[in-house]
Amino acid sequence: MIGIFDSGIGGLTVAKAVMEIFPDLSICYFGDTARTPYGTKSKETVTRYAVENTRFLLAQGAKIIVVACNTASAVAIPTLRSTFDAPIFEVISPAVDMALSHAKAKRIGVIGTRATINSGIYERLITELDPDRKVFSEPCPLLVSLVEEGWLKKPETRMIVKKYLRPLKAQQIQALILGCTHYPILKQLIAHKIGKRVKIVDSSEAVTISLKQFLDDNPKVLASLAKGGDSTIYVSDVTKQFAKTAQLILNRKVELNHADV
Ligand code: DGL
Repeated sequence: MIGIFDSGIGGLTVAKAVMEIFPDLSICYFGDTARTPYGTKSKETVTRYAVENTRFLLAQGAKIIVVACNTASAVAIPTLRSTFDAPIFEVISPAVDMALSHAKAKRIGVIGTRATINSGIYERLITELDPDRKVFSEPCPLLVSLVEEGWLKKPETRMIVKKYLRPLKAQQIQALILGCTHYPILKQLIAHKIGKRVKIVDSSEAVTISLKQFLDDNPKVLASLAKGGDSTIYVSDVTKQFAKTAQLILNRKVELNHADV
């Protein structure tokens, strides 16, 4: 099976994209709802959590790990790769590749949690691969809570999105990376506010492309993955609100199983 983890429920956007591309593969998802958010925590703490989450998913039988959380992808990947043998996928380099594939996007915007933006990882990867691109980043910390509250269509949410995007609009960006699990849920609103000429890069879609490429190139790994298309969702804390948000993201009834890592 494919193991996917996030700091909470938002990573189900990645799980959903994976389920759509690989409907036959079994998925085990772990949302660390007891310790969410990660976006405000230190690199050391997020890395420790990421190691524990990965260990949990491997114990459930996962053969591949997808780190759905941008914050954990930004800070914990070197430790995960040196600690575990299983292939570890993260959401940042696929999103960078996707942004760079838009040849005309010389000015690229990135939005994410404070920890992701402070890590500077998007700027670093983009400018290493193409020094001619300019990167403009904005932390958008309130968006996670607005999504968790289900405030997708409220005027307040529209206002906050507009305010966060204003500096990026002023920089006349041509592509915008949604560098957080929760932002794909606000994709339409974000696309509307930033303007239709800006290409939106959704990291939940981008990671499925690199996963597909890997499985095409490694048929033995593909053969080793459990089939059946079933998905089990574990969370470290079960509340009605988490169940509601999970349902909103997957657009179906969801059973949350409690697990301590
Ligand atoms: N999953 C986190 C991310 O993608 C957002 C929520 C949090 O701060 O934990 O960065």
